[in-house]
This record gives sequence, structure tokens and C-alpha cells, in this order.
Amino acid sequence: MLEKLLSLKNQVVNDLKKANTINEVNETKAAYLGKKSPLQELMSKMRDLSVEERKELGKAANEFRAFVEKELSKRITEINEEAINKRLESETIDVTLPGRKFRTGTIHPLRKITREIEDFFLGMGYKIEEGPEIELDQYNFEMLNLPKGHPAREMQDSFYIDENTLLRTHTSPVQVRTLLKAKGEPVKIICPGKVYRRDNDDATHSHQFMQIEGLVVDKDITLADLKGTLTMLCKKMFGENLEIRFRPSFFPFTEPSVEVDVTCFKCNGAGCSLCKSSGWIEVLGAGMVHPNVLRMAGYDPKVYQGFAFGLGIERFSMLMNSIDDIRHFYTNDPRFLRQF
Ligand code: PHE
Repeated sequence: MLEKLLSLKNQVVNDLKKANTINEVNETKAAYLGKKSPLQELMSKMRDLSVEERKELGKAANEFRAFVEKELSKRITEINEEAINKRLESETIDVTLPGRKFRTGTIHPLRKITREIEDFFLGMGYKIEEGPEIELDQYNFEMLNLPKGHPAREMQDSFYIDENTLLRTHTSPVQVRTLLKAKGEPVKIICPGKVYRRDNDDATHSHQFMQIEGLVVDKDITLADLKGTLTMLCKKMFGENLEIRFRPSFFPFTEPSVEVDVTCFKCNGAGCSLCKSSGWIEVLGAGMVHPNVLRMAGYDPKVYQGFAFGLGIERFSMLMNSIDDIRHFYTNDPRFLRQF
């Protein structure tokens, strides 16, 4: 009987070699350890044996069971490993395949040029101010020397919310707000922001557009400071070789007031379609802060002077990039926006 167990061991090993699935392993287990297995058969014959023989056979049977169980679990591990290896082989990733690209946005052209101009002025020690787009008539007009009924108000048709509040028509009210906040101290700021006018939209007009305001108030500020500052700005934005020209103009909050022209950077002043054959391009409005504005904000015009300017951001960008319609900035066509 002991020999029989020994030969069974070899059979188990052979059968397991042929078992290729967990199910087949389980069948082998049933065949050798189950109720109808040769082992069970041997055990049922124990009754007829002597005590000595029983002991011996019992020991051998336990050993056999342990052997079979070890072989079974060995085979199960092997089968699992084979399965994993097969999967790894069939599921290899081709790392050389290029990935799908996500399209990322670009900085809006108005934001981009605003940053460039901000950089220029930050480098000259200016601070950046902000003000509300819903503004008091008092700051948008009155304290800028534009009392109610002043004819110059007509130049800036406005969206009124009530009698005292409107969508600001320019960034100049931030001049007033900054001066009031500075309480008589010198001021050197720019203020970029949106402004609104009751205009009919066309290629060069928009009911909403952007400006950058500039204001410097200190002792001994002259028109030469204004000219130097704006010359440097225009050279940086439009090209080193251009010249700048002041034409007399009128703004109620500056005296004297000027329109600033630069030599046409397309034809170098020779005359072309961009400058309408004049050789000059108008780029912004500016002037020396009106004594009334200083006085109303609590500054003594005998001690303090200042200059101010206001430029249209869209206009700058249109000139610099040959853009023919202001509405391109607001219609969000990616074909336009991706070019910046
Ligand atoms: N606020 C003026 C406008 O919108 C521009 C300007 C600003 C002129 C500051 C002079 C000084 O037309």
C-alpha cells in the first residue's frame, strides 16, 4: 500500500503538468484527495490493519496529502504567472506614438498690449490704479471741470444709470479718485480699463472699448516731461525712429491740451493709405492738468502741476498690427485671436 502511494505521487506530478487551467487543477485535486480518490480507498481499508500498520499508513497518507497540496498550489501559481505574462505581452504600450495635443488659449491681443504698456510705465516708477466702470457723474465729468450743461459733455455720449451714475466714458475719473486718495501727495499712476460710449458700432467705433489713463502730479512738472514720457512710449510701441508732434486740442480737464501724432511708421512720413497721405498718425490725447481739477481735488495749483494722457488700447493695437476693424477684438473668432 505504501508503494501505491509512492507511485501515486509520480502520477500527480504528471497529471498536474497537463493541467493548464485552474479548473483542471481542481479536477486533479478531486481525483487525488476527493471522496472517490485512491487515497480514500486506502483509508477505508485501515480497519483491517494492525495498530502498527495503521500508524504507518496514517503517517504516509498525511504526507501524501501534504505533498499533493503543495504541488497543487505550485501549479496554480505557475498558471497565474503564465496568464499575467501573456497579458503583459499582448498589452504592451507603444510609447513612441505621439499623444493628442490639447489646444490651449492665447493671451487676448488687448491684454497683451496692456501688459506691454504697463511694463513700460512700471519701469518708470508708475503705480497701476483701477477704478469702477459704473462711475459717478461727479467723477466722470464734474470734478474734471465738466459741469452739468457743459457743451464738451456732448463729445462723450453716455449710458446713464440714473441722474448721478453712468458707465464711465473714459478712464479720466480715476485721476480724480487717485488725487482724492493721495490727499495732497505727489501722484504717478496709469490706469487701464474699459470705458463705454453711446456710439453706433462700426469698423472704428465700439460702444465699449479700452483706455489707459496716465497722471503725474508733483512740483515742477512741465510740458517737457509730458513730451519726453510720451516720446519714449511711442518709440517703444511703434519704433525707435519715429518722431512725435503735438497739435493744439481741447479737453476741459487739461490746459494746454494736445493731440499727439507720430510719424507714420508704415511710410516713414512719406505719405500712405494708413496715414491718409499726411505722414502723421494721431495716437492719443494729453495735456497739463487743469488748475481747476487740481483745486477741486485739494491740490494748490501754485505748488503742484501735472500732466495727463489717455490712449485707446484698441487703436494702438490696430495701428501696430494693421487690424482693419475694431469689432475683431470682441467677436472671439479664434482665427483672429490665435495670431497674437
Ligand atoms: N479722457 C480723454 C478722452 O477720453 C483723453 C485724455 C485723457 C485727454 C487725459 C487728456 C488727458 O478723450
